[in-house]
Amino acid sequence: MASKIQLLFLLLLVSCATYLQVSMAGDPDILTDFITPPNVGLPLDGNFFTFTGMRALVGAPFPTAFKVLKASMAEFPALNGQSVSYAILQFPNGTVNPPHTHPRASELLFVLMGSLEVGFVDTTNKLFSQTLQQGDIFVFPKGLVHFQFNSDSKNPALALSAFGSASAGTVSVPNSVFNSTIDDQILAMSFKTDVATIQKIKSGFSG
Ligand SMILES: *[C@@H]1O[C@H](CO)[C@@H](O)[C@H](O)[C@H]1NC(C)=O
Ligand SMILES: *[C@@H]1O[C@H](CO)[C@@H](O)[C@H](O)[C@H]1NC(C)=O
Repeated sequence: MASKIQLLFLLLLVSCATYLQVSMAGDPDILTDFITPPNVGLPLDGNFFTFTGMRALVGAPFPTAFKVLKASMAEFPALNGQSVSYAILQFPNGTVNPPHTHPRASELLFVLMGSLEVGFVDTTNKLFSQTLQQGDIFVFPKGLVHFQFNSDSKNPALALSAFGSASAGTVSVPNSVFNSTIDDQILAMSFKTDVATIQKIKSGFSG
């Protein structure tokens, strides 16, 4: 009897430890200080650890449509193995970053200029929304559907987002559903509507 209880306790401990490991997982840990891509000139210096792509923002006119500038592993190879990345989000007046998810990271958004309506939906389908003003920080939990909207009809908004992955990935909900090749009939049944309605929505994505 005692050994059975001990065994149960051990199993519980092991499953808790496994759960903790899974829930704390970010990018895989690396066994070196950093990862040097094969095509990079050696010896390495500070340039390898510097990303200058955001200089394009300095003094540039504000874009006329919502725009994302990324500093992730693809643009900045030194991030490989470091579990961090950035994106700059530019919202002209009245523009939206449509519902999307980042499969590999939570997102920490910092409003640098203007204001933003933001929100995410959890796995129980509950919406958590907020109106953020300049200086506010909001966290979007990993993998959950979220959006940002600049409802101000006159002023632009600018935000900096940090991600807990060098390659957070983005899955756009409208694009994945209506701009992939999922069959119209399947979408019509899934959205409890008819094929004509699905085709009408899809037509907005072509071109
Ligand atoms: C953004 O501002 C311009 C210029 O003031 C205005 O013409 C346009 O209607 C605004 N857009 C939205 C979506 O409010
Ligand atoms: C739809 O998909 C095509 C091909 O992947 C892409 O070029 C286009 O930008 C997408 N349209 C929208 C509105 O996202």
